[in-house]
Amino acid sequence: MALYALGDLHLSFGNPEKSQERFGRIWHDHEWKAKKNIEKMVKPDDTLVLTGDHSWGNNLVQCKRDLDFIEAFPGRKILLRGNHDHFWPANKTQKLNDIFDGRLFFLQNNFYSYKDYALVGTKGFCFEGPFYVDRRNGMITGYDKDAYEHAKVLVEREKKRLMTGIDAARAAGYSKFIIFLHYPPTSIIETDSAFTRIAEEIGAEQVIYSHSHGKERFHDSIQGRYHGVKYSLVSGDYLNFRPIRVLK
Ligand SMILES: [Fe+2]
Ligand SMILES: [Fe+2]
Repeated sequence: MALYALGDLHLSFGNPEKSQERFGRIWHDHEWKAKKNIEKMVKPDDTLVLTGDHSWGNNLVQCKRDLDFIEAFPGRKILLRGNHDHFWPANKTQKLNDIFDGRLFFLQNNFYSYKDYALVGTKGFCFEGPFYVDRRNGMITGYDKDAYEHAKVLVEREKKRLMTGIDAARAAGYSKFIIFLHYPPTSIIETDSAFTRIAEEIGAEQVIYSHSHGKERFHDSIQGRYHGVKYSLVSGDYLNFRPIRVLK
């Protein structure tokens, strides 16, 4: 029995015009690379958490082939909501859990257990700019203040969703946590946020996140051990579409 994580499959079986191929060689046949790696590693009694940006489809009809593809992976599949998952409005999590009952598990405002751990998670949010850059030296000289204020509202909303899951897990007697976020836990080059503080307060062992694509974005946030919590980036292109093992 093992727990695995991988993010950002960005499937487009129903929307081939949105293929990721245009983003470089790493994305060539990436869905088949992911499938091959997952089938090699994940056994039927394992759990695989997919940390968002599953599909380019805008609704369940457009996503059908993508979600069927995910459903065919071995093990229990837990899905987190990414910023591109338009098939999953925030208030429809329970509905999705009803539709895909026993086949796919949608993580938001709830929790799932793995051994004596509670798996909690939400989309999260971090400030990604716009930044103003001095063209002569490449230094950041400022940022969009309105976007920054808006980011604070989104972080607050996501924090509440995460806490709803944590409170439910605590009420059920859980005290060991793994946190899953779609967005990086902190804004670019910062090491502190509402999410890192929650992770530290509840004594979470690990924070797993994705969303960051391309070499220049892989180190936007924390990786490795920080203040007693282990942070791992699991974006598909960062891992060459090979899941990481989170727990044995
Ligand atoms: Fe993504
Ligand atoms: Fe994303």
